Amino acid sequence: MAEGVVIRPEREADHPVIAEVVRAAFVGHPREVASFVERIRESDQSIPELAFVAEDSSGVIAHVMLSWVGVEGASRPGILNLTPMSVRPDRQRIGVGAQLIRDALGRVEEAGEPAVMVEGIAAYYPRFGFERASALDFISPHPTIPDEAFMVKRLRGYSPDLAGRIVYPAAFDTLGYQRPA
Ligand SMILES: CC(C)(COP(=O)(O)OP(=O)(O)OC[C@H]1O[C@@H](n2cnc3c(N)ncnc32)[C@H](O)[C@@H]1OP(=O)(O)O)[C@@H](O)C(=O)NCCC(=O)NCCS
Repeated sequence: MAEGVVIRPEREADHPVIAEVVRAAFVGHPREVASFVERIRESDQSIPELAFVAEDSSGVIAHVMLSWVGVEGASRPGILNLTPMSVRPDRQRIGVGAQLIRDALGRVEEAGEPAVMVEGIAAYYPRFGFERASALDFISPHPTIPDEAFMVKRLRGYSPDLAGRIVYPAAFDTLGYQRPA
C-alpha cells in the first residue's frame, strides 16, 4: 500500500484538479476522457457518493467513479460501471490504483450492490475479483471491445439473472461509442 494515501469521496472543489489528473493519466486522449467525466457527472447515471479521489501530501493523485449503465434482458435495469480510473503518472505503479479500487469496491458492497462491471486492462482487474463478463452471460455494449477487457465482479447478492446486454448511456459518445438507434 502506498504511504500516506487517503481515499475519500470527491468534492465539487476537486473537479478542476481531478480533470488535470484524468488528462495526465489518459495522455493519448486527454480531452475526451476529461469531458467523459463531466458528462457522467451531469447525467442521470451519476452517483456522486461513489466517486472517489486518492490524496497524499501533494494533493489529488488519483480518481475513480462508479455510475450506472443499462442492462437489457436482466432482472435489474442497470449495473454499476467503474470508469474512468486515473492515477497521476508520477504516482503510478506504487499501489495507489489498487488501493482506490479496493476501497471503492468495499463501499459498493456496503451499499448492497451485487455487481460491478469494468471495461479495462485485462491484466489488471482480475486481481480485484473481476471475471470475464461473457462467461457470466453478459453481452458486451460494443463489438470493438476485446472479450477479455469486458469484466464483471460478482459481489454478495449476485445472481445469474443480473446478466444481460450492457447498454452504454449517452456520456459514452464522448469516447466514440455509437449506441444502437
Ligand atoms: C492503470 C492504472 C489505473 C493502474 O493504477 P496504478 O496505481 O498505476 O497500478 P497499481 O500500482 O495499483 O498496480 C500496478 C500493476 O498494475 C498493472 N498495470 C498498470 N498499468 C498497466 C497497463 N497499462 N497495462 C497492464 N498492466 C498495468 C501492472 O501489473 C502493474 O504491476 P507492475 O508495476 O509490476 O508492472 C494507472 O496506471 C493509470 O491511471 N493508467 C493510465 C490510465 C488508464 O489506463 N486507466 C485505466 C483504464 S482501464
